[in-house]
Amino acid sequence: MCGIVGYIGNKNATPILINGLQCLEYRGYDSAGIAIVQNGKINIVKDKGRVSNLKNICSNANLNSNIGIAHTRWATHGRPAKINSHPHIDNSGNFAAVHNGIIENYNELKEFLTLKGYSFLSETDTEVIPNLIHYYYTNIISDNDKFLKAVNSAVDKLRGSYALEIISSLYPDQIIVVRKDSPLVIGKGNGENFIASDIPAMLYYTKDFYLLEDNEYAVIYKDNITFFDNFLSEHSKTIKNIEWDANATEKNGYEDYMLKEIYEQPNSIRETIGSRLELGEKCSFDDINFTLEYLKSINKIYIVACGTAMHAGLVGKNAIEKLCKIPTEVEIASEFRYCEPIVDKNTLCIYISQSGETADTIAALKLAKEKGAKTLAISNVIGSSITREADYTIYTHAGPEIAVASTKAYTSQVVLMVILAIHFSEILGTSDKEYINKLKSDILDLPAKIEVILSETNIIQEFANKVYTEHDMYFLGRGTDYDVAMEGSLKLKEISYIHSEAYAAGELKHGPIALIENGVTVISIITNSNLVEKTLSNVQEVITRGAKTLVITNQKLTNTDFNFVITIPETNSIISPILSVIPLQFLAYYIAKNKGLDVDKPRNLAKSVTVE
Ligand code: F6R
Repeated sequence: MCGIVGYIGNKNATPILINGLQCLEYRGYDSAGIAIVQNGKINIVKDKGRVSNLKNICSNANLNSNIGIAHTRWATHGRPAKINSHPHIDNSGNFAAVHNGIIENYNELKEFLTLKGYSFLSETDTEVIPNLIHYYYTNIISDNDKFLKAVNSAVDKLRGSYALEIISSLYPDQIIVVRKDSPLVIGKGNGENFIASDIPAMLYYTKDFYLLEDNEYAVIYKDNITFFDNFLSEHSKTIKNIEWDANATEKNGYEDYMLKEIYEQPNSIRETIGSRLELGEKCSFDDINFTLEYLKSINKIYIVACGTAMHAGLVGKNAIEKLCKIPTEVEIASEFRYCEPIVDKNTLCIYISQSGETADTIAALKLAKEKGAKTLAISNVIGSSITREADYTIYTHAGPEIAVASTKAYTSQVVLMVILAIHFSEILGTSDKEYINKLKSDILDLPAKIEVILSETNIIQEFANKVYTEHDMYFLGRGTDYDVAMEGSLKLKEISYIHSEAYAAGELKHGPIALIENGVTVISIITNSNLVEKTLSNVQEVITRGAKTLVITNQKLTNTDFNFVITIPETNSIISPILSVIPLQFLAYYIAKNKGLDVDKPRNLAKSVTVE
């Protein structure tokens, strides 16, 4: 959701900015633009549409400068249009800004500036920012740090969330950045520096990063960066070395990132397991040190997240309740924020976020902290905002996930939640040792079992060929199979635009079965041996009413009435979602491909949802 890039150095900024924007395309956007300082003036090129379109326009625009800022916009205030695209410039033409986030009081600020004689071209909240900077700039008497002081005075008036990059034709040797509740990182080069919304956009150029904190300013020159707090006192900052390989952000021969990431799952899961789980040893986490006393004091665990991460939380809840006997609730972050949750110092709140930048999840975490709960973040992105807010963080280590639809992050989140549950149960002594040892060995076997599923995709492709023109589909399951049904349904909706619903199979007769008629597609997941017969009866009920059925199972089913069956390897039902989700990821993928859709960048969606 909105991407920001910046460059200052000795090279031509434009190709670096365009390359950075291309790396951020996965975040989701509808327009793109860049601003440079050339011959003492700010030159802006922007348009609605793809970065490739911007690249074409730039190639004819004779742009040449060693400093620039760039942006991909995901429309919030104002329709996707050239006029609303960033960068925005002030009335004097001296200050240009790009912004990720939402300025909640922009109407108020617009009125104030209008009274002072400023006019506005766009429908955006952002356009007030460069004008406010200009207003304060002209009102500051001292010459020292006038640019920074003007930015600071303007930012002081903003309410909402922002990651901001500002350049000025009056200061062609510096870029000023500041953030609050929106991501921004600075990459340190040799005689050049880079800015971006996230690390993968800069991995080609550097592995050394400064992770900007909320309300922290940086003034970036080509060979120097100075950091300031909200009151403009200067401070030093530690650099972070990030070991991600730039190749990890390439497609490496795959047609799409999503397909690549589906195939990466055996490896990403191995990375998640790492040294945390070894046969014959107790599970261990370097990053947390929960004692028996603390775990015994927990009266409730909340798992809070959005979308796919929330679905991983559902599987985690089952593992924690089964293995640790601690009551656990899963809540959607945007609901948790406003439902007045009953949380106190005896509640452990776990936040799952691949990106670590999801606005609702971060706000939900801050709320629980205020109420005195301990907070634990599970994230894939080192140094992301959520990891800096939480009391404790554990990383999934799944590698960069670029496709908007989450696949490998989900399976890694589930694996991590289950290992965490085992770890807690080992401290608490709440589980049978033999059962845990078998579960551990099942977890270690997951990568090999996934490889088997990845090597046999023909049935799922055949099924996708048959159903891709349909308008509605239904997913059924019980227990963790229902958790997976929800994830399969979400995956299908978001990349194939087919309406789908997931139901707990036992709930069918309480309403939804009215929707089942001749030819409707129903996908059922049946992996829990205790629930097979129950779910099978429900599947039989939809078959009787004419449904076309796909069954994903690890059981030996004798029923031959299903139209398609995909058999997956058997495993403990606590972790079976990690295997049963993979055919569902493929199903969404192949259906979207059959429909000729862009699977990596589905319409209206953003990888990182940094606004409420
Ligand atoms: C769906 C998907 C989203 C994310 C959700 C949370 O495929 O990716 O539902 O899971 O937006 O994102 P994170 O995990 O970054 O907080």
